[in-house]
Amino acid sequence: MEKQALEKLRHALLAWYAAENRRLPWRQSSDPYAIWVSEIMLQQTRVETVIPYYQRFLGRFPQIHTLARADLETVLKLWEGLGYYARARNLHKAAGIVCREHGGRLPEDPEQLRRLPGIGDYIAAALASIAFGRPAAVVDGNVKRVLARLFMEKAAVNDSAAKQRFMRLADEILDRHNPGQFNQAMMELGQRICTPRNPVCPVCPIQAFCRAFQEQSVADFPRRLPSKIPPLRKMVFVLIAREDRFLIIRRPNQGLLGGLWELPGQEFQGRKISPEKMAESVRGLTGLIVTTPKLLGNVRHAYTHFRVSADLYCCRYLEGRIVLAGHTAYQWIHPDESSRYAFHKLIHKMGGMVTECGITKFFINR
Ligand code: ADE
Repeated sequence: MEKQALEKLRHALLAWYAAENRRLPWRQSSDPYAIWVSEIMLQQTRVETVIPYYQRFLGRFPQIHTLARADLETVLKLWEGLGYYARARNLHKAAGIVCREHGGRLPEDPEQLRRLPGIGDYIAAALASIAFGRPAAVVDGNVKRVLARLFMEKAAVNDSAAKQRFMRLADEILDRHNPGQFNQAMMELGQRICTPRNPVCPVCPIQAFCRAFQEQSVADFPRRLPSKIPPLRKMVFVLIAREDRFLIIRRPNQGLLGGLWELPGQEFQGRKISPEKMAESVRGLTGLIVTTPKLLGNVRHAYTHFRVSADLYCCRYLEGRIVLAGHTAYQWIHPDESSRYAFHKLIHKMGGMVTECGITKFFINR
């Protein structure tokens, strides 16, 4: 695009943003820590979902020091339901590093920011530009869609080989005097106007510069590579009741859903597991001898790279001492206490099932 047109585009987009931007809670703050928390939460998650989590999180950890000093369990509890829990673990870890090594102040340089856990290209650019006014262009899914239409870019937005291409385009149009506002304007334009389906071109502030609009081919952009359906993994979980309590166990801090609580469970191959086999599995998972497990129902959940179909069984404790294989802690809890622990989504989805082992409602669903 020509220099003059670029200047006009930047001006039009910034004017639109100044007049129309949603007054989101994190935009009321210039504290780099608060902006950091918001950007981490906004990665992979919708603005509407983030708002209450952001407010609770900042209410509990108003400063980076309070977060650094908190234990991981409390942080995960506040993150419960937002998903992608590695974000919370990394945020907590990075807060510790910033306090110990940078005197509690986030570095301003994108390269230095990138050395912190959980900070990649996107967060580094968002923070450097919004919190520190550095000219770093942000590229997320919304921005790629805007760029693809603006330039009729043929590279697919979900092709990792095209990432550099979109970064170059974003860098070309970035307003270097006002990078934070400009980046946020691009993201917000993608969220509210230049939407995936039925974009609202008549009110778009940069319609005059949009090649796809001029060529009446907005619907043909962005291009995407066909995506594969993630594989389905089958799992079983078991609710083990002992008087009016049931057993929960904690996942190791590292890896998928690290540090979250769950019911004992495992993946299995084949069509179904027999109740006898299930009792054997429970022994292997917990060391306990239990009554023959009964099937209660099935729940499904989709993660980024796979889907899970999980059967829930229930049974009662008979004898034995707990021996965990891989998990790091256990508790026998009363259903009233379930809200004190952070569980992952699959367990929440099971919470509503009616059981037949003496505990009717084992879990208070959010
Ligand atoms: N998505 C992620 N960060 C955002 C921001 N700062 N403004 C608008 N949308 C966003």
